[in-house]
Amino acid sequence: MHFLITAGPTREPIDPVRYLSNRSSGKMGYALAAAALEAGHEVTLVSGPVAIAAPAGVTLVSVETAQEMYDAVAGLIPAADVAIFCAAVADYRVASVAGEKIKKSEDELTLRLVKNPDILGSARGVFGFGGILVGFAAETNDLAMHALDKLRRKECDLIVANDVSRSDIAFDRDVNEVSLFFADGTREDLPFASKQEIADTLIARIVSLPRGERQ
Ligand code: PMT
Repeated sequence: MHFLITAGPTREPIDPVRYLSNRSSGKMGYALAAAALEAGHEVTLVSGPVAIAAPAGVTLVSVETAQEMYDAVAGLIPAADVAIFCAAVADYRVASVAGEKIKKSEDELTLRLVKNPDILGSARGVFGFGGILVGFAAETNDLAMHALDKLRRKECDLIVANDVSRSDIAFDRDVNEVSLFFADGTREDLPFASKQEIADTLIARIVSLPRGERQ
């Protein structure tokens, strides 16, 4: 099968030297890419800026902004059988990026932000993707409620939810603890483990999902 995986953060420029971003290291998404490759699948990895190397054998497409990630996914998703959206995409970008470095002449600076496109939310309706669709949910409260809302709204087959209020897991850690919410209404809580172990389990669960119903 052909896997399309998004990973890492996006960077939204403020001026030529500054940007808005988040703490995603890419480790979870890269572990998924390695696991899918190890299981014998073809993998295209669309990644924001990270400090880790892509597994050998993966086709890496490097992007910086959410819009660039959206454009890359739009072009690549028709060839995919499975799409996993693990990237921590910035929900907002600066409305008007300064052409020159902003001077610190004022005591206050207001940045106007506008919404970025929702890449996962576009998979079914905009891109017409009919394969297995897996989203992540990074939550700080009411994990199950928000994960189930994302599962339904974004028409996913599976949402992988993690509690990003915990400093011992998720963002930039080598370990994670995730709960799986499947479209058939079932839930599975995976134990605390390395991201690579979790990725191996996830790829095994994903390939066993019923597929083709939306194709
Ligand atoms: O990279 P690491 O340091 O290893 O950390 C892993 C992780 C915490 C980033 C990862 O496990 C994770 O939770 N990824 C999803 C982060 C996120 O942005 O979640 P969200 O709940 O805000 O978004 C929901 C889903 O929509 C995600 O699949 C996200 O990729 C997708 N999304 C969000 C916004 C947007 N504009 N486009 C999207 O595709």
